[in-house]
Amino acid sequence: MLTKYREFTLPEAISEAAAAMRGRTLAQLFDLDPRRAERLSRAWEGWLVDFSKERITGQGLDALLDHAASVNLASWIAALFAGEKVNLSEARPALHTALRQAEATPVLVAGEDVMPKIQAVQARMRRLSSSLRNGERKGAMGAPIRHVVNIGIGGSDLGPRMVCDALSSTALSFDVAFVSNVDPAHLARALGTRLPAETLFIVTSKTFTTQETIANARTARGWLATALGGDRNVGSHFIGVTANVEAAIAFGIAPDDILPLWDWVGGRYSLWSAVGLPIAIAHGFDRFERLLAGAARMDNHFRFTPFPQNLPVLLALVTFWNTRVLGHGQRVIVPYAQALSGLPAYLQQLSLESNGKRVTRDGSAVAGPTAPGLWGATGTEGQHAFFQWLHQGTSEVPVEFIVPVRGTHPPHEQQVLLVANALAQAQALLQGLSEPVLSHRLAELGLSGAPLHAAVAARACPGDRASTTLLLPTLNAYELGSLLALYEHRTFVEGVLFGINSFDQWGVELGKTLTPPLIAALGASSADFPQDIDPSTRALTAHARSLLAS
Ligand code: F6P
Repeated sequence: MLTKYREFTLPEAISEAAAAMRGRTLAQLFDLDPRRAERLSRAWEGWLVDFSKERITGQGLDALLDHAASVNLASWIAALFAGEKVNLSEARPALHTALRQAEATPVLVAGEDVMPKIQAVQARMRRLSSSLRNGERKGAMGAPIRHVVNIGIGGSDLGPRMVCDALSSTALSFDVAFVSNVDPAHLARALGTRLPAETLFIVTSKTFTTQETIANARTARGWLATALGGDRNVGSHFIGVTANVEAAIAFGIAPDDILPLWDWVGGRYSLWSAVGLPIAIAHGFDRFERLLAGAARMDNHFRFTPFPQNLPVLLALVTFWNTRVLGHGQRVIVPYAQALSGLPAYLQQLSLESNGKRVTRDGSAVAGPTAPGLWGATGTEGQHAFFQWLHQGTSEVPVEFIVPVRGTHPPHEQQVLLVANALAQAQALLQGLSEPVLSHRLAELGLSGAPLHAAVAARACPGDRASTTLLLPTLNAYELGSLLALYEHRTFVEGVLFGINSFDQWGVELGKTLTPPLIAALGASSADFPQDIDPSTRALTAHARSLLAS
């Protein structure tokens, strides 16, 4: 079998802590330490982060904290904020923190203070979003722009899309849509309900070469040209957000309508940059600033809080323990807020594109598993989709409940019902429903013999299943900014603990190189296929070609 990682041994203290805990259920761990819930929870700014239902002990946490010190975590955190080249394979800094820094304290990249250019872009974002929201921005036919469609994918889509949706319940929105997939149906659905004369496209692409984004941008340009009397009239209907200004100008976007990105901000960490323009358009620049302020609050917490109280560090240590000690290969994110329906997909890219790696920073095979798979959906919807599997399935998977407690909409009773469900699900995963208890209940109802046995077997829930719960005061731009920054920094710490570079993504390049020959093969009339094509791909291509031709 393909060696996924090098055989590894855990630090002795971690192994000892794991051995001391082995065989004990979560319930027993709570019985052994009446103050467990208190010891393994942290209160912060109205939040309560409870990881006491995780299969870990105080001894284990202490061993993990020692391990964090042994991998020089404090130095890595300082290097991140200082703009050192923590992205080793691309020799770049990762300065998403500078994008939300409130103070003008210089942040140097290659000897240049980047704060002035960050502030200049923010000023342009404020003017652009304001001109759209107040109807000043006109299209080629003189009509005010009423619709904005962001064309981008990955980090150029997931973050702004998720935030626009998350905040849509708390502010008057401007019509902003997101198109990412190269599937022509995606753009068609967005264009089908909007008038060309009133529609503006933001082409968001750090490289301005991403196949999906360029294809969609070209189709959008054709749609506008057809409606507006030719290519020459479409310029005022485009804004470019990119690090490749030349390519954006070549596409036909006016220089004044191009907002720059920088190579010292990774795509999946970029919603705080001009990539966040749709957020400012949809919800106003002031609310975008509150998002930045919330992230800055978490930055300061992460940067200056001792590790035993440091939320990103503690949660990253839990991930490390669940992955390397307990062997969990996945984690489930369940936000109990419909407005956070985009959060699992956003965190998928953040975590899996950052830490889905198999080699360490020096290129050697990693010593143990790295990022666990990450998926999820909102609660309470998940309770009607995959919670059956969580409660009675044959796999245990740590669950992360994210719960903004105060709602943004009436009625209050429904918000209470939502929060109670979140708490109940974590409780049910912990305590389960034992066969003796169930048997007694069902016997009292008159069941006996084989029917009783069958009913008990079908209904019993093993429990003893781990979770973490984050309670937030409410969901607004400020709290959301802190939550997203928490997961950014958690991801970074997980990468340091795994010994990997969290800021490159070379794994996405291979598929891009295999696509063009298959495009040709799908269109070819002859039987030619790429030289090195495997029999399966060849047969699939031939069949798809016949369907496309019919
Ligand atoms: O998924 C690969 C990736 O490079 C992401 O890291 C990035 O966010 C996305 O593609 C889009 O890239 P770009 O912003 O350059 O179009």
